[in-house]
Amino acid sequence: MIRSVITGCGSYSPERVMKNTDFEGIVETSDEWIVQRTGIRQRHIAAEGETTADLAEKAAREAMADAGVTAADLDLIILATSTPNNTFPATAVEVQHRLGMDHGAAFDSQAVCTGFIFALTTADQYIRTGFAKRVLVIGAETFSRILDWEDRSTCVLFGDGAGAVVVESSEQAGTNGDRGILTAHLRSDGAHKDKLYVDGGPSSTGTVGYLRMEGREVFRHAVAMIADVIEAAYAATGLTSRDLDWFVPHQANKRIIDASARKLGIDPSKVIITVDRHGNTSAASIPLALCEAVGDGRIKRGDLVMLEAMGGGFTWGSLLLRW
Ligand code: UT7
Repeated sequence: MIRSVITGCGSYSPERVMKNTDFEGIVETSDEWIVQRTGIRQRHIAAEGETTADLAEKAAREAMADAGVTAADLDLIILATSTPNNTFPATAVEVQHRLGMDHGAAFDSQAVCTGFIFALTTADQYIRTGFAKRVLVIGAETFSRILDWEDRSTCVLFGDGAGAVVVESSEQAGTNGDRGILTAHLRSDGAHKDKLYVDGGPSSTGTVGYLRMEGREVFRHAVAMIADVIEAAYAATGLTSRDLDWFVPHQANKRIIDASARKLGIDPSKVIITVDRHGNTSAASIPLALCEAVGDGRIKRGDLVMLEAMGGGFTWGSLLLRW
Protein backbone atom coordinates (compact mmCIF):
# COMPACT_ATOMS: atom_id res chain seq x y z
CA MET A 1 0.00 0.00 0.00
CA ILE A 2 0.98 3.64 -0.42
CA ARG A 3 2.34 5.30 2.73
CA SER A 4 3.44 8.90 3.30
CA VAL A 5 7.07 8.99 4.42
CA ILE A 6 8.80 12.08 5.80
CA THR A 7 12.05 12.45 3.84
CA GLY A 8 13.26 15.86 5.03
CA CYS A 9 12.94 18.17 7.98
CA GLY A 10 13.73 21.86 8.57
CA SER A 11 13.10 24.58 11.10
CA TYR A 12 13.70 28.22 11.80
CA SER A 13 13.52 30.36 14.92
CA PRO A 14 13.82 34.16 14.81
CA GLU A 15 17.12 35.54 16.13
CA ARG A 16 15.70 37.54 19.03
CA VAL A 17 15.39 35.54 22.23
CA MET A 18 13.14 36.87 24.97
CA LYS A 19 13.86 35.44 28.42
CA ASN A 20 11.32 35.24 31.25
CA THR A 21 13.16 37.99 33.11
CA ASP A 22 12.59 40.29 30.10
CA PHE A 23 8.88 40.37 31.06
CA GLU A 24 9.65 41.97 34.40
CA GLY A 25 8.73 45.62 33.84
CA ILE A 26 6.22 44.74 31.08
CA VAL A 27 3.71 42.77 33.22
CA GLU A 28 3.62 41.66 36.85
CA THR A 29 5.24 38.23 36.62
CA SER A 30 8.41 36.36 37.50
CA ASP A 31 10.78 33.82 36.03
CA GLU A 32 9.85 31.52 38.93
CA TRP A 33 6.08 31.64 38.17
CA ILE A 34 6.55 31.04 34.44
CA VAL A 35 9.00 28.14 34.91
CA GLN A 36 6.96 26.50 37.66
CA ARG A 37 3.58 26.75 35.87
CA THR A 38 4.69 26.14 32.29
CA GLY A 39 8.32 24.98 32.02
CA ILE A 40 9.01 27.90 29.64
CA ARG A 41 12.36 29.71 30.10
CA GLN A 42 12.56 31.70 26.85
CA ARG A 43 10.87 32.18 23.47
CA HIS A 44 11.94 33.56 20.07
CA ILE A 45 10.25 36.74 18.81
CA ALA A 46 10.15 37.77 15.14
CA ALA A 47 11.95 41.00 14.23
CA GLU A 48 9.98 44.02 13.09
CA GLY A 49 8.89 43.31 9.52
CA GLU A 50 9.73 39.60 9.77
CA THR A 51 6.57 37.70 8.79
CA THR A 52 5.13 34.21 8.98
CA ALA A 53 6.02 33.76 5.29
CA ASP A 54 9.67 34.66 6.06
CA LEU A 55 9.86 32.06 8.82
CA ALA A 56 8.03 29.46 6.72
CA GLU A 57 10.31 29.99 3.72
CA LYS A 58 13.46 29.43 5.80
CA ALA A 59 12.13 26.23 7.39
CA ALA A 60 10.88 25.02 3.98
CA ARG A 61 14.23 25.57 2.26
CA GLU A 62 15.99 23.58 5.00
CA ALA A 63 13.47 20.72 4.76
CA MET A 64 13.78 20.61 0.95
CA ALA A 65 17.60 20.57 1.13
CA ASP A 66 17.40 17.79 3.74
CA ALA A 67 15.11 15.75 1.47
CA GLY A 68 17.25 16.53 -1.58
CA VAL A 69 14.33 18.00 -3.55
CA THR A 70 13.71 21.25 -5.41
CA ALA A 71 10.48 23.18 -5.97
CA ALA A 72 10.09 21.34 -9.28
CA ASP A 73 9.70 18.06 -7.36
CA LEU A 74 6.77 19.27 -5.20
CA ASP A 75 3.08 18.82 -6.08
CA LEU A 76 1.52 20.62 -3.15
CA ILE A 77 2.29 22.93 -0.22
CA ILE A 78 0.13 22.93 2.91
CA LEU A 79 0.95 25.65 5.43
CA ALA A 80 -0.55 25.41 8.91
CA THR A 81 -0.87 28.83 10.52
CA SER A 82 -3.23 30.99 12.56
CA THR A 83 -1.08 34.07 11.96
CA PRO A 84 -1.07 34.43 8.16
CA ASN A 85 0.61 37.42 6.50
CA ASN A 86 -2.77 38.58 5.17
CA THR A 87 -6.41 37.59 5.51
CA PHE A 88 -5.99 36.38 1.93
CA PRO A 89 -4.37 35.08 -0.20
CA ALA A 90 -3.06 32.10 1.72
CA THR A 91 0.46 32.56 3.08
CA ALA A 92 1.20 29.21 1.39
CA VAL A 93 0.95 30.79 -2.08
CA GLU A 94 3.48 33.46 -1.10
CA VAL A 95 5.85 30.74 0.08
CA GLN A 96 5.14 28.76 -3.11
CA HIS A 97 6.12 31.79 -5.23
CA ARG A 98 9.24 32.53 -3.19
CA LEU A 99 10.38 28.92 -3.58
CA GLY A 100 10.03 29.30 -7.35
CA MET A 101 7.18 26.78 -7.67
CA ASP A 102 4.87 27.76 -10.54
CA HIS A 103 2.93 24.50 -10.82
CA GLY A 104 0.77 22.46 -8.44
CA ALA A 105 -1.13 24.09 -5.59
CA ALA A 106 -0.64 25.66 -2.19
CA PHE A 107 -3.10 26.41 0.58
CA ASP A 108 -3.26 27.26 4.28
CA SER A 109 -4.74 25.01 6.94
CA GLN A 110 -6.10 26.46 10.18
CA ALA A 111 -6.46 24.36 13.32
CA VAL A 112 -4.46 26.59 15.69
CA CYS A 113 -2.10 24.48 17.88
CA THR A 114 -3.27 21.26 16.19
CA GLY A 115 -2.54 22.84 12.79
CA PHE A 116 0.51 20.74 11.95
CA ILE A 117 -1.31 17.47 12.73
CA PHE A 118 -4.25 18.57 10.55
CA ALA A 119 -1.91 19.64 7.71
CA LEU A 120 0.20 16.47 7.82
CA THR A 121 -2.95 14.31 7.93
CA THR A 122 -4.31 16.23 4.91
CA ALA A 123 -1.04 15.65 3.04
CA ASP A 124 -1.28 11.94 3.89
CA GLN A 125 -4.79 11.79 2.37
CA TYR A 126 -3.64 13.46 -0.86
CA ILE A 127 -0.67 11.11 -1.11
CA ARG A 128 -2.57 7.91 -0.36
CA THR A 129 -5.24 8.68 -2.97
CA GLY A 130 -2.50 9.31 -5.55
CA PHE A 131 -3.44 12.99 -5.96
CA ALA A 132 0.06 14.05 -4.95
CA LYS A 133 3.45 12.34 -4.79
CA ARG A 134 5.43 14.89 -2.80
CA VAL A 135 4.02 17.48 -0.40
CA LEU A 136 5.72 20.22 1.60
CA VAL A 137 4.00 20.63 4.98
CA ILE A 138 4.87 23.70 7.04
CA GLY A 139 3.83 24.96 10.47
CA ALA A 140 4.71 28.65 10.86
CA GLU A 141 3.55 31.28 13.32
CA THR A 142 4.16 34.82 14.51
CA PHE A 143 1.96 34.66 17.61
CA SER A 144 3.83 37.65 19.10
CA ARG A 145 1.69 39.79 16.73
CA ILE A 146 -1.64 38.65 18.23
CA LEU A 147 -0.63 38.78 21.90
CA ASP A 148 -2.04 41.33 24.31
CA TRP A 149 1.26 42.40 25.87
CA GLU A 150 -0.62 43.73 28.90
CA ASP A 151 -2.21 40.34 29.70
CA ARG A 152 0.26 38.39 31.83
CA SER A 153 -1.89 35.26 31.68
CA THR A 154 -1.19 34.85 27.93
CA CYS A 155 1.75 36.99 26.75
CA VAL A 156 4.37 34.93 28.59
CA LEU A 157 3.22 31.67 27.00
CA PHE A 158 3.73 32.03 23.25
CA GLY A 159 6.59 32.46 20.77
CA ASP A 160 7.35 32.62 17.05
CA GLY A 161 8.89 29.97 14.79
CA ALA A 162 8.50 27.58 11.89
CA GLY A 163 9.10 23.94 11.07
CA ALA A 164 8.63 22.02 7.83
CA VAL A 165 8.73 18.50 6.45
CA VAL A 166 8.77 16.99 2.98
CA VAL A 167 6.38 14.03 2.73
CA GLU A 168 6.66 11.53 -0.12
CA SER A 169 4.63 8.65 -1.50
CA SER A 170 6.25 5.28 -0.84
CA GLU A 171 5.08 1.75 -1.66
CA GLN A 172 5.09 -0.28 1.58
CA ALA A 173 3.90 -3.72 2.73
CA GLY A 174 0.83 -2.49 4.65
CA THR A 175 1.98 -3.59 8.12
CA ASN A 176 2.90 -1.79 11.36
CA GLY A 177 6.54 -2.30 10.35
CA ASP A 178 6.10 0.08 7.39
CA ARG A 179 7.90 3.40 7.21
CA GLY A 180 5.65 6.46 7.10
CA ILE A 181 2.32 7.51 8.58
CA LEU A 182 0.58 4.48 10.07
CA THR A 183 -2.56 6.18 11.38
CA ALA A 184 -3.92 9.66 12.13
CA HIS A 185 -6.90 10.84 14.19
CA LEU A 186 -8.41 14.33 14.09
CA ARG A 187 -11.07 15.82 16.37
CA SER A 188 -12.71 19.19 16.92
CA ASP A 189 -15.55 20.48 19.06
CA GLY A 190 -16.72 24.06 18.57
CA ALA A 191 -18.63 23.97 21.85
CA HIS A 192 -15.30 25.10 23.35
CA LYS A 193 -14.61 27.90 20.86
CA ASP A 194 -14.80 30.69 23.46
CA LYS A 195 -12.12 29.19 25.74
CA LEU A 196 -9.23 30.00 23.38
CA TYR A 197 -9.79 32.44 20.53
CA VAL A 198 -8.74 35.72 18.93
CA ASP A 199 -11.19 38.57 19.60
CA GLY A 200 -11.15 39.94 16.06
CA GLY A 201 -11.51 38.91 12.45
CA PRO A 202 -12.41 40.24 9.00
CA SER A 203 -16.09 39.29 9.19
CA SER A 204 -16.76 40.08 12.86
CA THR A 205 -14.85 43.17 13.99
CA GLY A 206 -12.86 44.10 10.90
CA THR A 207 -9.74 44.03 13.09
CA VAL A 208 -7.03 41.42 13.68
CA GLY A 209 -7.73 41.11 17.41
CA TYR A 210 -5.79 39.58 20.31
CA LEU A 211 -5.51 36.09 21.71
CA ARG A 212 -7.81 35.38 24.67
CA MET A 213 -7.64 32.22 26.74
CA GLU A 214 -9.25 30.71 29.79
CA GLY A 215 -6.01 28.89 30.59
CA ARG A 216 -7.36 26.82 33.46
CA GLU A 217 -10.29 25.58 31.32
CA VAL A 218 -7.97 24.63 28.44
CA PHE A 219 -5.69 22.84 30.88
CA ARG A 220 -8.67 20.97 32.38
CA HIS A 221 -9.62 19.44 29.00
CA ALA A 222 -6.15 18.99 27.49
CA VAL A 223 -4.94 15.73 29.01
CA ALA A 224 -8.22 13.82 28.43
CA MET A 225 -8.42 15.00 24.81
CA ILE A 226 -4.79 14.09 24.12
CA ALA A 227 -5.31 10.62 25.67
CA ASP A 228 -8.50 10.19 23.59
CA VAL A 229 -6.77 10.55 20.21
CA ILE A 230 -3.66 8.60 21.21
CA GLU A 231 -5.83 5.71 22.39
CA ALA A 232 -7.62 5.91 19.02
CA ALA A 233 -4.22 5.45 17.32
CA TYR A 234 -3.51 2.42 19.52
CA ALA A 235 -6.96 0.94 18.77
CA ALA A 236 -6.41 1.39 15.02
CA THR A 237 -2.99 -0.29 14.98
CA GLY A 238 -2.85 -2.63 17.99
CA LEU A 239 0.31 -0.79 19.11
CA THR A 240 0.72 0.58 22.65
CA SER A 241 2.80 3.11 24.58
CA ARG A 242 5.40 0.37 25.17
CA ASP A 243 6.00 0.16 21.40
CA LEU A 244 6.77 3.89 21.05
CA ASP A 245 10.35 5.04 20.64
CA TRP A 246 9.49 8.75 20.81
CA PHE A 247 6.63 10.96 21.91
CA VAL A 248 6.62 14.40 20.21
CA PRO A 249 3.79 16.38 21.81
CA HIS A 250 2.61 19.89 21.06
CA GLN A 251 4.68 22.16 23.29
CA ALA A 252 2.24 24.33 25.25
CA ASN A 253 3.01 23.55 28.86
CA LYS A 254 5.45 21.05 30.40
CA ARG A 255 2.84 20.15 33.03
CA ILE A 256 0.35 19.11 30.31
CA ILE A 257 3.06 17.09 28.51
CA ASP A 258 4.15 15.34 31.74
CA ALA A 259 0.56 14.58 32.80
CA SER A 260 -0.30 13.18 29.34
CA ALA A 261 2.79 10.95 29.26
CA ARG A 262 2.03 9.73 32.79
CA LYS A 263 -1.62 8.95 31.97
CA LEU A 264 -0.60 7.04 28.83
CA GLY A 265 2.29 5.18 30.49
CA ILE A 266 4.93 6.75 28.22
CA ASP A 267 8.41 6.69 29.74
CA PRO A 268 9.70 10.27 30.37
CA SER A 269 12.97 9.41 28.58
CA LYS A 270 10.97 9.06 25.32
CA VAL A 271 9.40 12.53 25.50
CA ILE A 272 10.83 15.32 23.30
CA ILE A 273 10.69 18.67 25.13
CA THR A 274 11.41 22.05 23.52
CA VAL A 275 8.83 24.21 25.31
CA ASP A 276 11.56 25.48 27.67
CA ARG A 277 13.31 27.19 24.74
CA HIS A 278 10.46 28.01 22.33
CA GLY A 279 7.34 28.56 24.45
CA ASN A 280 4.13 27.68 22.65
CA THR A 281 4.65 28.26 18.92
CA SER A 282 1.23 26.81 18.01
CA ALA A 283 1.33 25.03 14.61
CA ALA A 284 5.14 25.31 14.50
CA SER A 285 5.77 23.52 17.79
CA ILE A 286 5.63 19.89 16.64
CA PRO A 287 7.84 20.27 13.54
CA LEU A 288 10.30 22.37 15.59
CA ALA A 289 10.53 19.59 18.19
CA LEU A 290 10.57 16.80 15.60
CA CYS A 291 13.35 18.41 13.56
CA GLU A 292 15.46 19.02 16.65
CA ALA A 293 15.23 15.36 17.70
CA VAL A 294 15.95 14.14 14.17
CA GLY A 295 18.82 16.60 13.78
CA ASP A 296 20.55 15.58 17.01
CA GLY A 297 20.23 11.88 16.19
CA ARG A 298 17.66 10.88 18.81
CA ILE A 299 14.99 9.93 16.24
CA LYS A 300 16.46 7.35 13.87
CA ARG A 301 15.24 5.40 10.82
CA GLY A 302 12.73 2.74 11.91
CA ASP A 303 11.73 4.49 15.17
CA LEU A 304 8.03 4.59 16.07
CA VAL A 305 7.02 8.21 16.76
CA MET A 306 3.75 9.55 18.19
CA LEU A 307 2.81 13.17 17.44
CA GLU A 308 -0.10 14.85 19.23
CA ALA A 309 -1.61 18.27 19.78
CA MET A 310 -4.57 20.04 21.35
CA GLY A 311 -5.60 23.66 20.96
CA GLY A 312 -8.12 26.34 20.04
CA GLY A 313 -11.50 25.23 18.73
CA PHE A 314 -11.03 22.96 20.55
CA THR A 315 -9.12 20.86 18.04
CA TRP A 316 -7.03 17.84 18.90
CA GLY A 317 -5.26 15.09 17.00
CA SER A 318 -2.65 12.34 16.96
CA LEU A 319 -0.46 10.96 14.21
CA LEU A 320 1.60 7.79 14.53
CA LEU A 321 4.48 7.26 12.12
CA ARG A 322 7.56 5.16 11.63
CA TRP A 323 10.60 7.27 10.80
O1 UT7 B 1 -1.67 25.25 22.91
C1 UT7 B 1 -2.82 24.83 23.56
C2 UT7 B 1 -3.46 25.92 24.27
N1 UT7 B 1 -2.88 26.37 25.47
C3 UT7 B 1 -2.62 25.62 26.54
O2 UT7 B 1 -2.54 24.43 26.52
C4 UT7 B 1 -2.49 26.33 27.84
C5 UT7 B 1 -3.30 25.64 28.88
N2 UT7 B 1 -3.24 26.28 30.17
C6 UT7 B 1 -2.11 26.44 30.89
O3 UT7 B 1 -1.04 26.07 30.44
C7 UT7 B 1 -2.21 26.99 32.27
O4 UT7 B 1 -3.57 27.06 32.66
C8 UT7 B 1 -1.57 28.39 32.43
C9 UT7 B 1 -0.07 28.29 32.31
C10 UT7 B 1 -2.13 29.33 31.37
C11 UT7 B 1 -1.89 28.96 33.82
O5 UT7 B 1 -1.48 28.06 34.83
P1 UT7 B 1 -2.48 27.69 36.02
O6 UT7 B 1 -1.74 26.84 36.94
O7 UT7 B 1 -3.72 27.14 35.37
O8 UT7 B 1 -2.73 29.09 36.69
P2 UT7 B 1 -4.07 29.89 36.88
O9 UT7 B 1 -4.60 30.37 35.57
O10 UT7 B 1 -4.96 29.07 37.74
O11 UT7 B 1 -3.54 31.14 37.67
C12 UT7 B 1 -2.98 31.02 38.97
C13 UT7 B 1 -2.59 32.40 39.47
C14 UT7 B 1 -3.70 33.43 39.30
O12 UT7 B 1 -3.70 34.24 40.46
P3 UT7 B 1 -4.81 34.03 41.59
O13 UT7 B 1 -6.12 34.23 40.90
O14 UT7 B 1 -4.60 32.65 42.09
O15 UT7 B 1 -4.45 35.10 42.58
C15 UT7 B 1 -3.25 34.22 38.12
O16 UT7 B 1 -3.73 35.55 38.16
O17 UT7 B 1 -1.47 32.88 38.73
C16 UT7 B 1 -1.75 34.21 38.26
N3 UT7 B 1 -1.03 34.43 37.02
C17 UT7 B 1 0.24 34.85 36.99
N4 UT7 B 1 1.13 35.16 37.95
C18 UT7 B 1 2.35 35.55 37.58
C19 UT7 B 1 -1.47 34.23 35.75
N5 UT7 B 1 -0.49 34.54 34.88
C20 UT7 B 1 0.57 34.92 35.61
C21 UT7 B 1 1.88 35.32 35.28
N6 UT7 B 1 2.74 35.62 36.29
N7 UT7 B 1 2.33 35.41 34.02
